[in-house]
Amino acid sequence: MSQRDTIREQYPYPERPYPGGPYQGGYQEAPYQGGYQEAPYQGTPYQETPYQRTPYQEASYQEASYQEAPYQEAPYREAPYREDEYPQGFYPEHDERQPRPRAKKRSVDAWMAKQSTTFPRFKRRSIALFFLRLPAFVPWFFILRGWLALNTKDVLTLSEADVLGTGGEATFLIAVSITPLITLTGARWYAPLRRWYGIFFALIGISDGTTASITTSFSGGVFGRLAGHTFLVTGFLIVLIAIPVLLTANTPAQRRLGTYWKKLQKLTYLMWGMIALHLALLDGLHPFDGPQGDGDPVFHQRFYQIMAISLPLVILRLPPVKRWIADKRAAGQQWKVWCTVAPMAALYLLAFAFILNEEIFTGLQVLTLNPPAN
Ligand code: HEM
Repeated sequence: MSQRDTIREQYPYPERPYPGGPYQGGYQEAPYQGGYQEAPYQGTPYQETPYQRTPYQEASYQEASYQEAPYQEAPYREAPYREDEYPQGFYPEHDERQPRPRAKKRSVDAWMAKQSTTFPRFKRRSIALFFLRLPAFVPWFFILRGWLALNTKDVLTLSEADVLGTGGEATFLIAVSITPLITLTGARWYAPLRRWYGIFFALIGISDGTTASITTSFSGGVFGRLAGHTFLVTGFLIVLIAIPVLLTANTPAQRRLGTYWKKLQKLTYLMWGMIALHLALLDGLHPFDGPQGDGDPVFHQRFYQIMAISLPLVILRLPPVKRWIADKRAAGQQWKVWCTVAPMAALYLLAFAFILNEEIFTGLQVLTLNPPAN
């Protein structure tokens, strides 16, 4: 008995309801025999027409499918892609002479969300993020030999707070730079770096405090080394505040804490102020190193460095500034944004160069067990 006969046995229709008709597949209603019965399927098997997206649809699709971790800082309560909210007039239906809206920046995220051509197993974004995450280990790379050598030549006593302090400061400043960078560029693929560098700031800060409490030369035992001077107290407080923020810097904690999570994360701003205070109390407000320095003492002044970096980051968090940038980008005038922020960006990069210089300089002193004379 053929398979077809078996089917006939189960569905005993003597002939098709629409013999010779063009429609031969799908559902057919049988003569009423006490309910619906499915007719034997005899038509061409159903084939789904391959759905072809236009390149523009593809870009939007890729972007829509690129879901960030739900972490959003306070200024990003609105739709993550503000430039998506094109006014209606941006899509003129008949007037060909009108310029098309630009999807340039949006497509950076879409491009990053695709598989890499060189390493097809990975997305471009994952590869880029992998390399961009590595610098977070630099402070520990530099300090490791000092730890393993158990403070040989007083290398930790003399340089630990410089290497881990500067490393903690740099990772903190990178973490708080991500949101303004998203505001500026509109691209979000690097947003995970915010959490990554935030976590490393806290871990480096804890390792800094712990090492300082054992190795620095302040009198008064562990307590004296952590809180014997006002500038030490501020450093210690930064570490204490960082602990709850670190412990909740994960998605399950974020879900459990709900709206409190954002309030807790706002402690970041308190830590920001405390770091600036730590440095102001450490150096004073006069140019550090005075005439014995390298001739550019003002650039080495840690408080001025953090101010030069913080200024653009604070300005780019102001709601009217963010709105202006989003409007300019929606109007296809991103160049106006770049021209406006260029002087502040130059100041930011200059100050950051001095911080990195400090990190490498003192880091090499520890790595080579060659600390400065006290
Ligand atoms: C218990 C915690 C902390 C203690 C006891 C502490 C102590 C110190 C000390 C003694 C110095 C002077 C180093 C020197 O010039 O020889 C210093 C400098 C510094 N600290 Fe802290 N600190 C702590 C936490 C932090 C944290 C969490 C940060 C950063 C986010 C930080 C950032 C810095 C920076 C940037 C410097 C200047 C480093 C330099 O001289 O180049 N400190 N700290």
